[in-house]
Amino acid sequence: MQVSKLSQLKSILNNYEFFIIDEKVSTLYKEFLGPLDQSKCYFVSAPEQSKNMHEFEKICIFFLNQKIRRTDSLCIIGGGATSDLGGFVASSLLRGINWSVIPTTLLSMIDASIGGKVGINTTQGKNLIGSFHLPQKNYFIPEFLNTLEPDEYTSGLGELIKYKFIDKNIDISKPIGEVIVDCATFKQEIVHTDLKEKGIREILNFGHTFGHGIEKLTTLSHGMSVLYGIELNLFLFSPSLLKEFYRVLGHFEINLENIKLDINKFLDVVEHDKKNTAKEIGFIILDNNKAYATKKLSRDELKTLLESNATSTNTNF
Ligand SMILES: NC(=O)c1ccc[n+]([C@@H]2O[C@H](COP(=O)([O-])OP(=O)(O)OC[C@H]3O[C@@H](n4cnc5c(N)ncnc54)[C@H](O)[C@@H]3O)[C@@H](O)[C@H]2O)c1
Repeated sequence: MQVSKLSQLKSILNNYEFFIIDEKVSTLYKEFLGPLDQSKCYFVSAPEQSKNMHEFEKICIFFLNQKIRRTDSLCIIGGGATSDLGGFVASSLLRGINWSVIPTTLLSMIDASIGGKVGINTTQGKNLIGSFHLPQKNYFIPEFLNTLEPDEYTSGLGELIKYKFIDKNIDISKPIGEVIVDCATFKQEIVHTDLKEKGIREILNFGHTFGHGIEKLTTLSHGMSVLYGIELNLFLFSPSLLKEFYRVLGHFEINLENIKLDINKFLDVVEHDKKNTAKEIGFIILDNNKAYATKKLSRDELKTLLESNATSTNTNF
């Protein structure tokens, strides 16, 4: 990760031939992005809604019409939805071209832009079509955070708090810019060891088995859903860490309201998470020293566990 300043953006962009840019970011940062040759730029509006096959095809055709070559480099500027979509274009176009990323949301700075998982959503679910295609460079420009909506920032904090739990060395009392670099570096190291998630990379899914279920059944953001997921996970499997969890939430002034879910719908979603095997639901669990292990439960076992602890966390069934 290269830490840079907004004032250096123009010189960074000179290294790239083509660009995919979040449209909102292009408007907010016109002063810095304006000089780009518009015929080389594809602008993505409403990135999460655009993270689909139709937009993927449109972007590929746009660049093919611009005579993109395999030796050209693509720079993607935006949040996680833009880098997932754009990175997937980079992985497929001409059987793969080089790309770099300038993440502009907290979530993408510490998570989505790192690790080369790229892809799109379908009506069957999120990120079900995709590949692994690592970016060559990842530029961290903290000034982008100044314009982020508070809910988007809090969503990023959800993932940041996850890192605090799985990496003992993350110190949240440091200035936020340093914490972001520490989280990103931690993810980069994990990905370097295990790109295809055959081992240690699975630790990054801590809180996500429940989090994905909560995200699907509520209007909560990804990061907030992960926080509910972590709370439920700790409550069921590592209750001694709950006190620290609430302390960290307090540090970031995050409050979890009570939510109520239908247990069968929740189990349906959790059971069909693409990371599970056919018969079992997998969890990352932490011990007191934050060493991690995996735990697998059948749907029935999980149902019994959730029902017997029904109203003891902010997620109720
Ligand atoms: N590939 C991975 O490893 C990975 C990991 C986690 C999440 N993801 C994906 O990331 C996506 C979520 O990413 P996200 O939270 O960055 O969402 P996002 O890309 O949808 O951006 C959120 C909103 O913020 C706006 N925005 C972006 N930068 C801004 C800025 N600097 N100022 C003001 N507004 C700005 C966007 O236009 C959008 O409206 C999901 O699609 C998720 O699946 C991928």
